[in-house]
Amino acid sequence: IRASSSSYADELVKTAKSIASPGRGILAIDESNATCGKRLASIGLDNTEAHRQAYRQLLLTTPGLGEYISGAILFEETLYQSTTDGKKFVDCLRDENIVPGIKVDKGLSPLPGSNNESWCQGLDGLASRSAEYYKQGARFAKWRTVVSVPCGPSALAVKEAAWGLARYAAISQDNGLVPIVEPEILLDGDHSIDRTLEVAERVWAEVFYYLAQSNVLFEGILLKPSMVTPGAEHKEKASPETIAEYTLTMLRRRVPPAVPGIMFLSGGQSEVEATLNLNAMNQSPNPWHVSFSYARALQNSVLKTWQGRPENIEAAQKALLIRAKANSLAQLGRYSA
Ligand code: 13P
Repeated sequence: IRASSSSYADELVKTAKSIASPGRGILAIDESNATCGKRLASIGLDNTEAHRQAYRQLLLTTPGLGEYISGAILFEETLYQSTTDGKKFVDCLRDENIVPGIKVDKGLSPLPGSNNESWCQGLDGLASRSAEYYKQGARFAKWRTVVSVPCGPSALAVKEAAWGLARYAAISQDNGLVPIVEPEILLDGDHSIDRTLEVAERVWAEVFYYLAQSNVLFEGILLKPSMVTPGAEHKEKASPETIAEYTLTMLRRRVPPAVPGIMFLSGGQSEVEATLNLNAMNQSPNPWHVSFSYARALQNSVLKTWQGRPENIEAAQKALLIRAKANSLAQLGRYSA
């Protein structure tokens, strides 16, 4: 049953399914140059192209990564880079059966007229950029916008976030890229888990309203939600079981089963917390593939182990495989700490 005029419809569905395959999830390494610089600074390295390349080479050439990782989100610079031996990063991924993806948004900017909130830029020229990325080997895209609970969120900020995501999703599909739809509801704040649920329901309702208006093919998208948790500064922490219950309740109320995959962000949770929460969500069958698209929760130990030293590369790759495998087990509901 066709539900899209995109000439890429069949390919989009296939790409989304292969990313949402059992026991696998996404490695997010799409930090902008500025954010990558912060990660490098944490181990005393300057933010040069050579250091960024060395770090990404370490990650993308980890032997056996494809057993646990189905997709990798890259920043534009990385999509066009190669290993020091001259092998394109995109080909390293393909050899491991990992789909290359690309961050296409241009970052956040203050949203005038709102409650000190922001909006996500990048629609200008997006169609031609997406076509170029496809030629370079990318098959999925990501656009991250944020919503802040303590700032409101205002009706304007939610509408802008949802509308921007829907425009981006339609443009991506038109150019053969599966869009990851990511309205990140920030952890910051001292609000309760019930308040997060309320905001998440509001945001996702609006996102799906505009996705439908933009004739986006739901079978050819992936979501990247935040888990529903109390604010990071809330007095009580929630257990993985509570987080799973709230998050799945929100998803069941808002996300049609036509969507193939839910790939959570880690949002500042520790590595083990992110794994335990995902595992709790996979204790009973879900209508969608419920998995991970972690950046920090897959990279923290890797960075610490590497320290920028060539002699530590192998150990750092092992550290990546440990987290990737743990999250793979959590995707299957079989992780134990
Ligand atoms: P974290 O898992 O560190 O929150 O990163 C999420 C993200 O959007 C990166 O693509």
